[in-house]
Amino acid sequence: MIRTAFPQDFLFGAATSAFQIEGATDVDGRSPSIWDQFCLEPGRIADGSDGRRACEHYFRFRDDVALMKDLNLQAYRFSLAWPRVMPLGFGAINEKGVAFYDQLIDELLKRGMEPWITLYHWDLPTALGDQGGWLNRDTAKHFVEYAQKMVERFGDRVKHWITHNEPWCVASLGYRQGEHAPGMKDPRAGWIAAHHVLLSHGLAMDAMRAARSDLQIGITLNLTPGYAASDSAADREALRRFDGSFNRWYLDQVFKGALPEDMITEVKAECGGTLDFIQDGDLAAMKRDMDFLGINYYSRAILRGAEDAEGQLPRQLIVDPTDITDMNWEVAPHGLTDLLVRLQNDYQPKALYITENGAAYDEAPDAQGRIHDERRVRYLKKHAQAMLDALDQGVNLKGYFQWSLLDNFEWAFGYQKRFGMVWVDYETQTRRPKDSAFWYRDLIQKRIIP
Ligand code: FCB
Repeated sequence: MIRTAFPQDFLFGAATSAFQIEGATDVDGRSPSIWDQFCLEPGRIADGSDGRRACEHYFRFRDDVALMKDLNLQAYRFSLAWPRVMPLGFGAINEKGVAFYDQLIDELLKRGMEPWITLYHWDLPTALGDQGGWLNRDTAKHFVEYAQKMVERFGDRVKHWITHNEPWCVASLGYRQGEHAPGMKDPRAGWIAAHHVLLSHGLAMDAMRAARSDLQIGITLNLTPGYAASDSAADREALRRFDGSFNRWYLDQVFKGALPEDMITEVKAECGGTLDFIQDGDLAAMKRDMDFLGINYYSRAILRGAEDAEGQLPRQLIVDPTDITDMNWEVAPHGLTDLLVRLQNDYQPKALYITENGAAYDEAPDAQGRIHDERRVRYLKKHAQAMLDALDQGVNLKGYFQWSLLDNFEWAFGYQKRFGMVWVDYETQTRRPKDSAFWYRDLIQKRIIP
């Protein structure tokens, strides 16, 4: 049987993150985050911008929630700004920051939408960044306190929690490649950061479960299925290394409490010969019984056996330049089906949710103020079909969050990349749903691909 409709209980929503939309970075007791700091460093952000205004969601959240309702969204995934609720990273709570999220949550519930919280979407308080950030094992300890306190405050109303968003990006973009805050370029630092992030995930899950027993808790990983460019031994080896460092390093630790065997030698070499930052019991502490796995899916990777300038990471190729987004990411919907089927087979998660998927395209309003973002509609259609294909193959996929509700601050790219289903005029802060938003509204209502 070929499935043409999404199940009635399949959840459709949209995702955002605090730093990318809230603005109000120095309001009501919020302390700076490592991203505020990073934006101040010349050359870090392509358009020289920062998060001070962003989408002013902090002030406009009621209108934004009303907009979500107009678009039929059933759930909204947002992140808490750690520096807003716990300015020092530990200890005292900033009640004004908590009050903001209380109001947002209540507004969502009032309008019948499920709030989904991400605890860490990259905006570490600078107070912790100054102590080494994720290189410092204490940051994991502080994250546990933060997670527990947030559950105590919001867990009565919010039942779905994501500990971390994309640990690979935190570790590799932030500490290894220097493209994200805090901007370090050190392979060993990358592996250490990854370790502490994953450790904090497992430890936080224990604390969150102890605080409340009725929560659904998981982690969100950015996973990219790899394909060898050819059948040659070199290309297959490049694929193994890519998959090992990008996907399995994270999956194996949270699902199996183990490092992928085949990666240990080379990771050790990158770490100066020792993984001494992994203490006894750490790996066991990372493996927790998660209620779901969140996947952020944007594209696939094609690998060939050439080494990059550092002679380390296998190179990633985009083969089809005719179908790429403004991020230069190949539109590769079948990669999503392959990924979902593989996760189901290899890791048997209790449930899978796509916590991000979407595309950057720059269509702007026409003379009538309409935004005909046909390329985004096409992208979304293809990925919806890819999900149906995965459901057909028995994958336990329960929901989908589009990235993103609004055009927003796209990290090192600033405001130049527009991922929103809703256009944002950053001067006037006007919001305008794009054609893709109306398409999504219909999909949610009809449960078949319009
Ligand atoms: C993901 C991030 C999200 C957004 C999208 C485009 O890596 O989680 O914040 O930047 O990419």
